[in-house]
Amino acid sequence: MKGLILSGGRGTRLRPITYTSAKQLVPVANKPILYYGIEALAACGIREIGIVVGDTHQEIRDAVGDGSRFGVRVTYLQQEAPLGLAHAVLISEAFMAGEPFVMYLGDNLVREPLRPMVDRFTTDHPSAQIFLAHVPNAQEFGVAELAGDRVVRLIEKPKRPPSDLALVGVYMFDRTVFQAVKAITPSARGELEITDAIQWLIDQGHTVRPYVISGWWKDTGKLEDMLEANRIVLDGLERRVEGDIERSEIVGKVIVEPGAKIVESTVRGPAVIGKNAVIEQSYIGPFTSIGDGVVVRQSEVEHSIVLEGSSITQVSRLESSLIGRNVSIYRSDAKPKSYKLVIGDRSDVGLI
Ligand code: G1P
Repeated sequence: MKGLILSGGRGTRLRPITYTSAKQLVPVANKPILYYGIEALAACGIREIGIVVGDTHQEIRDAVGDGSRFGVRVTYLQQEAPLGLAHAVLISEAFMAGEPFVMYLGDNLVREPLRPMVDRFTTDHPSAQIFLAHVPNAQEFGVAELAGDRVVRLIEKPKRPPSDLALVGVYMFDRTVFQAVKAITPSARGELEITDAIQWLIDQGHTVRPYVISGWWKDTGKLEDMLEANRIVLDGLERRVEGDIERSEIVGKVIVEPGAKIVESTVRGPAVIGKNAVIEQSYIGPFTSIGDGVVVRQSEVEHSIVLEGSSITQVSRLESSLIGRNVSIYRSDAKPKSYKLVIGDRSDVGLI
């Protein structure tokens, strides 16, 4: 059994962060989203993982390397353009070499352990098995219609969903999927859709099994989903306070990494403070991830993700925000009194 992680997408819904960084490397609880997927595959015994990469391949290679850190061997599969999930499968055929595989979307976070699903696939031998979850907004996903323990129809982002069962972004296939991805044609959005490939399997009489999960999962394509994923992951962490704490209050589930310095401040968990970060005369509220080397002085930050190297000074309150790398936000007394902004394309700034 091998693994396939899709990490080629452009992340347009997370701009401007994704102008300079792959969306799969945006951290949740200070760990790149992509690492959660690699760890999930490694945890169910998979040792060979193909990562499909696109424009951002260099950054992903630099972050993941050969995979030895995760106990796996990673092979990079270059996709020349984001032509769809089924296209990513198509280019992985040689790498899979006839073995069944688990496919995992690199921007998804799934809490459910994969092992039971892999075990069921191994004993049952369907052609495909798909993770499904009940969702309130099925029209935003691929949606499955079931008859007993078989999937009978899949529709990509239907206007009127036939059920509330969304495809979660974890799939298992045997080698028949390669016939399917070669047989289908691009959809209206110009992509080879994995839903069409699975529908082709169904239409050809192959068995496609559902695996309905009960735990949470998140497609982290949008800011609100990133913040929500951050909130859920932080909530599951254990308190661990290293670093230097001076005249400060550290309340609840908080991780303070080595080298961090917290002075005359309150940190109320769940929260994580990265390596060598400095928090001075500030309040860090629940559901906040402060990246490595971030400096927060005389400010309040809550329910936010601040990426490494940024600084926040004398900002009365920052909430529900995603701050990129090496950003400075500060109060200025310069005259004339006005906002002075240097902001990249497609940024989103809410002033009060
Ligand atoms: C993709 C799939 C869709 C699935 C979703 C899960 O959508 O095409 O079937 O439900 O991932 O995150 P996309 O994110 O490409 O719009």
